[in-house]
Amino acid sequence: MILGIETSCDETAVAVLDDDGSVRINLIASQIERHQPFGGVVPEIASREHLQHLFPLITRALTDAKLSWKDVERIAVTAGPGLIGALLVGVAGAQGLAYGLGLPLVPVNHLEGHIFSPYLQREGASIALPERFLSLVVSGGHSSIYDVRRGIITMLNRTRDDAIGETFDKVAKFIGLPYPGGPQIEKHANGGRIDRKRFHFAMPQFNEKSADFSYSGIKAGAIRLAREHGISATGDPQLLADFCATFQEALIDQLFDRLEVIWSQLETPRPTEVAVAGGVAANTAVRERLSAWAAKREVIVRLPEKRYCTDNAAMIAFAALQKPEGATDPRRVSARSRVQ
Ligand code: KG4
Ligand code: ZN
Repeated sequence: MILGIETSCDETAVAVLDDDGSVRINLIASQIERHQPFGGVVPEIASREHLQHLFPLITRALTDAKLSWKDVERIAVTAGPGLIGALLVGVAGAQGLAYGLGLPLVPVNHLEGHIFSPYLQREGASIALPERFLSLVVSGGHSSIYDVRRGIITMLNRTRDDAIGETFDKVAKFIGLPYPGGPQIEKHANGGRIDRKRFHFAMPQFNEKSADFSYSGIKAGAIRLAREHGISATGDPQLLADFCATFQEALIDQLFDRLEVIWSQLETPRPTEVAVAGGVAANTAVRERLSAWAAKREVIVRLPEKRYCTDNAAMIAFAALQKPEGATDPRRVSARSRVQ
């Protein structure tokens, strides 16, 4: 069995998985309420909350799953990227445990955790990884499309400025919606009959036909429209709904515009599966669009369960299982805020 630990941002998370990838237990202590008064994650508060919650959560995970330390053979921990002070709590905790118990430690790249998470489907079983799949990672910190072959990950594009989740969050904050903004925008976007012509967002394009994302233009456009029309969380609900729906659609349109460019550039045979991961993968419109996109191209679509979209430790332990050679002496592991 493998114990997974994730503390890269604002969720303290612990999970235990069997070696075949089935999830014994997956616990998350969310700090969202502690950060909400500030409209975003405060790194110092995040570190302190992780310190307070990590060890009680590990104890609870073992107790609730009716396991003891004797059952744990390996520990996996997010080593980066993320907030350095937050990562350090998880890494130092995992190092201490692994060293003290004489267990190997597997440092895991947080992004790899997200990339493989669509294959962690049900409690009790996971789907075997295919030879190859296309992965869309859409989170608060990252927006990228990857080609994953036999577990080897090649980045096909990236965002040149903001990540998609970050854009949801910043615009939501501007109009007075609570953090995190993505689910809030989604909730208001589904509020009744929507006038899709009331607001217009331009699709940003680069001259050289690059497949890179750029979300800062949509963010600036949204803030300008919100200011001009006086859109706010406490204002006219219909105006708010129309704004949230068209803004969300503009973000998603760009995702699919770039996916199409990448798809057209991929040599045949192309991947036969497409997967989406990260917090924004919890968005119903994103899931529906990807399902429709995949059906049209006769490609299998993999959507992670919503609890595995946002940060969790099951995905960290699962990613470690894909790399058996990653286990190392716990003293050699270090936290890194940026990872290439
Ligand atoms: O993957 P995640 O938990 O953390 C990072 O690694 O970044 O992603 C968090 C992001 C936030 O920006 C949040 O607003 C967004 O995911 N998010 C959503 C939804 N749920 C979470 N965005 C749009 N629609 C949602 N339902
Ligand atoms: Zn994440």
